[in-house]
Amino acid sequence: MASVKPDIRDIPADRIPRHIAVIMDGNGRWAKKRGMPRLFGHRAGMESLRAVIKACVEFGVKYLTVYAFSTENWGRPQDEVSGLEKLFHEAFTNELLELHKQGVRIIHLGQREGIPQDLLKEIDEAVDLSKNNDRLVLSVALNYGSRNELMHAVRRMIADGLKPEEITEQKISEYLFTAGIPDPDLVIRSSGEQRLSNFLLYQSAYAEWEFPETLWPDFGKEQLLEAIAEYAKRDRRFGKVK
Ligand code: FPP
Repeated sequence: MASVKPDIRDIPADRIPRHIAVIMDGNGRWAKKRGMPRLFGHRAGMESLRAVIKACVEFGVKYLTVYAFSTENWGRPQDEVSGLEKLFHEAFTNELLELHKQGVRIIHLGQREGIPQDLLKEIDEAVDLSKNNDRLVLSVALNYGSRNELMHAVRRMIADGLKPEEITEQKISEYLFTAGIPDPDLVIRSSGEQRLSNFLLYQSAYAEWEFPETLWPDFGKEQLLEAIAEYAKRDRRFGKVK
C-alpha cells in the first residue's frame, strides 16, 4: 500500500513541536556520491537549511536550533574548515536580510573564543539586527559542544559566587548558552547516523528523537513535515504515567 503523505492541516496545533533541533548530517556523503568535494555538499546543505527555516515559519514551529559546527569540527582538513567558514560568512551576511524579512531572530550558541574575529562580528551584527523578531528563533550552534557549554556554565556559576544550594536544575539551564530557549521537543539527525555527537545533551533529556535516512542536502519541507507527523503520534510522558 502506498503511504499517504502527511498534510500539515491534519496535525493539531498542540502536536506541532515548539522547538526542533537538527543535526544536519550527510553533506560529505552526498557530495562523495556525486564525485564532488565535501564542500559541494555543505553548500547544498545550506539550501536545505534555507528550505527548513521557511517551512518552520510556515508550520508554526517557534524555535529551530541547528548544529552548524562543533568544537570538534576544527579537526577536519584545513580546506574544509576554511570553506565552511566562508559559507558561514555568506550565511550571516547575504542570507541575513531575507531571514530578517521573514521575522527570524538569530541566536548564536557556542564558545566565542576560537571563532575568527571577522565572523564573530558578523554573527553579533546578525543577532543584534534580528533581536526583535519573533516568528522563529533560529539558534545556530557554531563552535558548540555540550561538554564545553557545561564547562562554561560551571565556571560562570563559580565566578558569580553561587552557593551550592542555589545550584538547581533550573539554574544550570539559565547558565547554558541556550538560556531562555525552551528545551527541544524533537531532535532530528539526518543521514541515518544514530549518535548525539555532543549536541544539547542537557537540554534534550526528554526530547523525542528521529533519525531519517535522508542525507541533509536531500532534506527539505517534505521531510520536515514527515518528521513532525511522526512526532505528533508520539506519546510523551516525561518519565511519568498517563
Ligand atoms: C555534517 O555533515 C555537516 C556539517 C559539519 C556542517 C553543516 C553546515 C551546513 C549545512 C552549512 C550551512 C549552515 C549554516 C548555519 C550557515 P558531514 O560533513 O559530517 O557529512 P558526512 O557525515 O556525510 O561526512
